[in-house]
Amino acid sequence: MASRIIPVDPFDLVVFGGTGDLARRKILPALFRRYCAGQMQDGTRIIGAARAEYDTEGYRAFVHDELVEFAGPAAQDTDQVAGFLDILDYVAIDADGELGWSELSQMLSEERVRAFYFSVGPELFGGLAERLHRHGMAHGESRIVVEKPFGHDQATARRLNETLAEHFEEVQIYRIDHYLGKETVQNLMAIRFGNMLFEPLWNSQYVDHIQITVAETVGVAGRGEYYDNAGAMRDMVQNHLMQLLCLIAMEPPSKFDPDALRDEKLKVIRALDPAGQDDIVLGQYRADATRPGYHEDVGDPDSTTESFAALRLQISNWRWAGTPIYVRTGKRLRARKSEIAVVFKETPHSIFGPEAGRHRNILTIRLQPNEGIDLDMTIKEPGPGGMRLVDVPLDMTFAKALGPDAEDVPDAYERLIMDVIRGNQTLFMRDDEVEAAWAWIDPAIVECNKRGQPPLPYDAGSSGPEEALALMHRDGRRWREIKP
Ligand code: BG6
Repeated sequence: MASRIIPVDPFDLVVFGGTGDLARRKILPALFRRYCAGQMQDGTRIIGAARAEYDTEGYRAFVHDELVEFAGPAAQDTDQVAGFLDILDYVAIDADGELGWSELSQMLSEERVRAFYFSVGPELFGGLAERLHRHGMAHGESRIVVEKPFGHDQATARRLNETLAEHFEEVQIYRIDHYLGKETVQNLMAIRFGNMLFEPLWNSQYVDHIQITVAETVGVAGRGEYYDNAGAMRDMVQNHLMQLLCLIAMEPPSKFDPDALRDEKLKVIRALDPAGQDDIVLGQYRADATRPGYHEDVGDPDSTTESFAALRLQISNWRWAGTPIYVRTGKRLRARKSEIAVVFKETPHSIFGPEAGRHRNILTIRLQPNEGIDLDMTIKEPGPGGMRLVDVPLDMTFAKALGPDAEDVPDAYERLIMDVIRGNQTLFMRDDEVEAAWAWIDPAIVECNKRGQPPLPYDAGSSGPEEALALMHRDGRRWREIKP
């Protein structure tokens, strides 16, 4: 099964923050891999824009070194690297001053798609949009790509939306949530809406509960300043976890198109019950023998920012009333593991009697690592001894099922950037969606603050604070293990 590469017409892409961390680690390597895949036609241009005083040759040398570090094995192909560097340009620009703007506008070609990637702090978004407009760079084929954090709360997100809307139409604004670009996250939609098997069971009549876990082993060192001001609720729950929740819970859109999909996601967020104090557990990691604790990582011994959050959510609509959804995310946990588990109810009656035990089907969508799907089925344990039942996974690891193609999938940034160029907003967040997510999370954060307690400490390498386990135990359920 060969992957299909559809080249896109030549375009101009300007990366503001072209020397920054995200550009070095993600955006430039992603562009390079798309170049290697043959998706960029002759004439395509990528322009780095940042404060640093590089000339084009200097910028190319900088990018060369970053590709070697971050672009994986592809960067060993010196011809491809040279070819990619050839399409790079650079402009020294002052994002909140006047330096470099006329040069930039002269570098761009008319009559073709031009995308401006705002890989800079959110305080610069408004100024960038305004200057692009003022310098005549915001024509109909222009698009802006905006990174998170998109606001700090609903009020700031709304102001940001209003500012961007003064200079660009909503169809020109691409708000990135890189989780939506992950292959397995898209597979969620394929599994739900491409198969007859699951959809009839996808409701509170058959689903006992759903668990969403995004566990990381990394701490926050190196990005402490940003993180300490955000915490797990704003950094992960408001965006990535909320998006996963929407995709797993939404109604089938009438077609796979940007607004049809985003309308359905929005309805899920709006149907969420407000979270009370008892529905949220926050935690903060301790030091262990070899690694510093949260306080040392952010350089503030008094910080009360959470590095872990577990929540019990309820969607009040016909499909989900009575089926809780548990979500959790945290840093410095036992393993890096992201998955969604749909836990079905037990059969209404066991013909095998009580000694056969209790069993249930669980559909697990493994987002990372080891992407794939498991469906836990109950079968008879082989051999004599009567009807003993066991649960075994029907395992579809994509790498096994699809062969080399499964390993060669574009990463989230590759896919999302090319979607921007193609003008496809399906995997990007709409203004109302972002505001609705904040509208739900703001009061949840207020509820947590009302408790007047710091987040609960948890051991590095654990599954989070004990109280997070209790969140499910009190409902007679338990979290799936976070194990490597
Ligand atoms: C980012 C968060 O959006 O996502 C980080 O700011 C987090 O804190 C990261 O580590 C996780 O992304 P991934 O793709 O590694 O799961």
